[in-house]
Amino acid sequence: MTDKIRSIAILGGTGDLGGGLARQWSRAGFQIHIGSRTLDKGLAAANKLVTEFPDLNVTGHDNVSAAQLADLVVLTVPFAHQLSTLDSVSQALDGKVLIDVTVPLVPPKVGTVQLPEAGSAAEQAQQHLGDNVSVVSAFQNVGAMHLQEDHAIACDVLVTGNKRAARQTVIDLVQALGLKGWHAGPLANAAAAEAMTSVLISINRHHKIDGAGIVITGEPVTT
Ligand SMILES: NC(=O)c1ccc[n+]([C@@H]2O[C@H](COP(=O)([O-])OP(=O)(O)OC[C@H]3O[C@@H](n4cnc5c(N)ncnc54)[C@H](OP(=O)(O)O)[C@@H]3O)[C@@H](O)[C@H]2O)c1
Repeated sequence: MTDKIRSIAILGGTGDLGGGLARQWSRAGFQIHIGSRTLDKGLAAANKLVTEFPDLNVTGHDNVSAAQLADLVVLTVPFAHQLSTLDSVSQALDGKVLIDVTVPLVPPKVGTVQLPEAGSAAEQAQQHLGDNVSVVSAFQNVGAMHLQEDHAIACDVLVTGNKRAARQTVIDLVQALGLKGWHAGPLANAAAAEAMTSVLISINRHHKIDGAGIVITGEPVTT
């Protein structure tokens, strides 16, 4: 577990990606607060995990309570609802790191890159929230199905953000899941990870792959 972060709120943690992250981080020893628009749904998602793994520290809440309770918050809702969800919890985010996993997919052409005016969903979130929240972008290229299973995940995670310390916090959380996280530069570079998702969706379709991912090659040079 990382030194600083003990509890994680997952807004929209009732869904595919958020549910997978809740499962994996709770099994890695973190306290997880699953957030939902409705308390009952949050409670049900938490109960499902605790029924499967009784020792886990997982609780269900509405999104606001989940965000208030946690050291760090993860946003896992569809792009169309990114800003409205952030508005609903904005006070509880003050001074915290927010991991934004949002991919700005525009149905029905989800295999085509269609980035928003701000440059990326992550930059849109940062501009919307202001500098009191450190937005870090991650997990866009990890298929949710991999997080819902108990096998090693052959996919790296590009981590972008404007503050190095916040990026490192998220890289530590990525590595707690057994994944490799990379410092991939400022939030402006989140556009590349978000665009890559549409590339991976196209590859999945053409090559009949269930959740293609990316792996960065190369080894650090030691002197
Ligand atoms: N699925 C993947 O493989 C994958 C991979 C990488 C990144 N992502 C990104 O992760 C995010 C979540 O993806 P997902 O597949 O997990 O989505 P999802 O299962 O369709 O939805 C996640 C949650 O979003 C909430 N939600 C739905 N409609 C909403 C609305 N109108 N307003 C506010 N919240 C709403 C719901 O939670 P409540 O009903 O409980 O509030 C839902 O459980 C997306 O931005 C996606 O681009 C997904």
